[in-house]
Amino acid sequence: MRKVAIITGAGSGLGQATAVRLAQEDVNIVVVDVSEKGGNETVEMVKKIGVDAIFIKADVSKKEEVKNYVDQTVEHFGKIDYFFNNAGISGSGKFFLETTTDEIDQIVGINLMGALYGMRYVAEVMLKNGGGAIVNTASSAGVIGQDSVVTYAATKHGIVGMTKSMVAEYAKNGLRVNAIAPGPTETPMVKSFYEANPAMKENATRGIPQKRLGTPEEVAELVTFLLTSKAEYINGEVIRIDGGFTNTK
Ligand SMILES: NC(=O)c1ccc[n+]([C@@H]2O[C@H](COP(=O)([O-])OP(=O)(O)OC[C@H]3O[C@@H](n4cnc5c(N)ncnc54)[C@H](O)[C@@H]3O)[C@@H](O)[C@H]2O)c1
Repeated sequence: MRKVAIITGAGSGLGQATAVRLAQEDVNIVVVDVSEKGGNETVEMVKKIGVDAIFIKADVSKKEEVKNYVDQTVEHFGKIDYFFNNAGISGSGKFFLETTTDEIDQIVGINLMGALYGMRYVAEVMLKNGGGAIVNTASSAGVIGQDSVVTYAATKHGIVGMTKSMVAEYAKNGLRVNAIAPGPTETPMVKSFYEANPAMKENATRGIPQKRLGTPEEVAELVTFLLTSKAEYINGEVIRIDGGFTNTK
């Protein structure tokens, strides 16, 4: 029987690349995204690979919509084996005191509350069925401090704390929870962020020992490894995938 994965933010970037990579491992995919266009595109891509896939539209910052994507997954596929808790938005790129409190609410609502709600409802289903594997998307901004990303960094450090503490509570019940901390990776989100802040792109590439950004496919490979049985004894880790970036800070 095929494994079933929920991927949030699967309509683009890291989520979409991971949907494709997991489909190549014969995993059925639940594509969750606020964007219908991106979500439907991903469903088409993974169905071509030969697995079953559904799109569930949800804004992850709304808890009832999170509960709905979990309920609909169980109704359709009967279980959840893997969860890539990934939907997120970038920070505004402004210094903190130039950020409005509405911007803070929006970033925290999607990046942190959305991830916590997803964890809450998905883990409940997994634990009823004897366990499962979860990967949360943190960031370099979740492991080091940088300027212009104070709120974003707060959400991504929060993701790291959530990951480690879930393991302390539920590893004994069969749950594996890890986080990834990608450096700048060439996805649509990063492209638009750097188009608005070109000096930051130059700065970022200069600061990466490998002198290039990462690719969504490289991240998808890591997430697939962490979710599948190949990583059975890896739990509570925060894996950096950043060309050496944060290790040289
Ligand atoms: N790309 C990078 O350089 C990088 C680096 C570190 C961490 N990240 C993190 O990776 C994750 C994915 O980002 P990406 O680079 O693939 O970006 P992306 O913009 O390409 O994809 C993000 C997807 O999330 C969806 N989304 C946004 N808000 C949502 C919401 N409220 N509810 C549901 N879906 C929503 C978007 O529609 C989009 O399809 C984010 O959590 C981001 O913070 C990205």
